[in-house]
Amino acid sequence: MSKKVRTAVFPAGGLGTRFLPATKVIPKEMLPLVDKPIIQYGVEEAIASGIEHIIFITGRGKGAMEDHFDISYELDATLEKKGKKELLEISRKISSLARISYVRQKEPLGLGHAVLCAKQLVGDEPFAVILADDVIDARVPCLKQMIDVYDERQGSVLATMTIEGPGISAYGVLAGAQDPNDERIYECTGMVEKPKFEVAPSKQAIIGRYVLTPRVFELLEKTGFGAGGELQLTDGILGLLEHEKVYGFTFDGKRFDAGDKFGMLQATVEFALKRPEFGGKFREYLKGLPL
Ligand code: G1P
Repeated sequence: MSKKVRTAVFPAGGLGTRFLPATKVIPKEMLPLVDKPIIQYGVEEAIASGIEHIIFITGRGKGAMEDHFDISYELDATLEKKGKKELLEISRKISSLARISYVRQKEPLGLGHAVLCAKQLVGDEPFAVILADDVIDARVPCLKQMIDVYDERQGSVLATMTIEGPGISAYGVLAGAQDPNDERIYECTGMVEKPKFEVAPSKQAIIGRYVLTPRVFELLEKTGFGAGGELQLTDGILGLLEHEKVYGFTFDGKRFDAGDKFGMLQATVEFALKRPEFGGKFREYLKGLPL
């Protein structure tokens, strides 16, 4: 019988240099989008998609992340004493969101290496990978959409987006063809990490959500260092293609690159506008700006 996708791996060992100076001391995963650290959006998406176990791959200086998802006795006791019930609820909820394990990635050897660090904890079952920088606003959680495709097709599923122009060089890019019966699905025949625009095999860029079969671990173990001198997840998945099907999936939703300063500004405006408590006020404020 096919196995359920129960575990999500969150690679979070990166240095976040795209967001300096904010990320000199604060992990990029802890940067707030409106009032929540970006990693919490990813964790909530995973839980809403049926994930039971979260594995954070962390590194030096990421302690704030562990504290965020843990119980804060001082904070909770103070809020309780002061009768601040709503805030107490917010604080408590975070620590009870999920079963979380932490693995430390000792050296920043790449995304493929980070995922490989989760091998023992994941075991022999399909799993998800979420890159918290990619915040996705969707009616049905993006990962849930992907798990549905995995359950139906029993092959690895990569979230994809069409990227026009030279910007494609910042992504893993798929080769292949659209499924004639389902325009959301792209049947992969190859993929390349951060190709030059001129040689990119398509406009289908990989976005930070993956559902992978456990065979990818064996393949990552055999994969050499690739683009940027790092062990690339894309290269490990490319190896999978020799054994099984891999699908690109155009999800329904809007993706923001919150690990990038401009992307974070866009996400902040759009997420704030959706918040009932200040959406109206914020809209009025934006309209009043001399743009
Ligand atoms: C990583 C992956 C890349 C993917 C991207 C999505 O790159 O290596 O294939 O397209 O995430 O955000 P990074 O942005 O970490 O350099």
